[in-house]
Amino acid sequence: QKSLTASDIRERKGGGPLVCLTAYTTPTARLVDPHCDITLVGDSVGMVLHGLPSTLGVTLEMMVLHGKAVMRGLSRSLCVIDLPFGTYEESSEQAFRSASRLLAETGATAVKLEGGVHMAETISFLVARGVPVVGHIGLTPQSVNVLSGYKVQGKGTDAQRVLADAQAVSDAGAFAVVLEKIPQALAHRITQTITIPTIGIGAGPACDGQILVVDDMLGAFADFKPKFVKRYAELSQQASQAIEQYAAEVRAGEFPEQMHSFGPPV
Ligand code: KIV
Ligand code: NA
Repeated sequence: QKSLTASDIRERKGGGPLVCLTAYTTPTARLVDPHCDITLVGDSVGMVLHGLPSTLGVTLEMMVLHGKAVMRGLSRSLCVIDLPFGTYEESSEQAFRSASRLLAETGATAVKLEGGVHMAETISFLVARGVPVVGHIGLTPQSVNVLSGYKVQGKGTDAQRVLADAQAVSDAGAFAVVLEKIPQALAHRITQTITIPTIGIGAGPACDGQILVVDDMLGAFADFKPKFVKRYAELSQQASQAIEQYAAEVRAGEFPEQMHSFGPPV
């Protein structure tokens, strides 16, 4: 089976919704791959798996390591890897150095970077040199300290700014763009205006596709329940019960049983 290409994704504009999820490990990539068009190795890995307080501390080395792990589990979906904070903003040359390393060392197809109008030059520089790019606008978590938190973006007159960002990313040659945490009416307007697929997270149903952090939709955390996430499972609850039962059985001398043991009983 051949894996999807950046052109395949771009051509899905206006077609059936693109299904996208994150993955950071081989086993999760194997679960996600048969059902998804894009598997994103998001820099959310820093918060989800490494306990970092934001995505700002994520390094290129972390993205390479998780990118390699995810690629081992994919056969069909297109793999996109996030460029982490501080590895692309300084210049187009710095962005190409980081992006080419991500793609060369992992075998992934494309990178994603945050920013609209001010990153347009970098996006065209990368695309012209063989790096397919996914944009990311609206709430851009790497700018949490400038945005002063993870608030909905593009409300009221701020909509013009986000629309301009979408247009710039599309014109610069990105093959898709993530719209994060913006009003659904604005996401609808952007989706109707630009020529590349929009992939929404907290951006309503009008987008050309949807993405969620896989651990969020699986309920892998007890405490993180943002409005835009639907929980399709309660893994953290199930895991916590399982661990509690294991501890109780070990303390009671009930585990391991004969079926888990080797040789004659003692
Ligand atoms: O890092 C990430 O998981 C992302 C998605 C939420 C779009 O950027
Ligand atoms: Na990200």
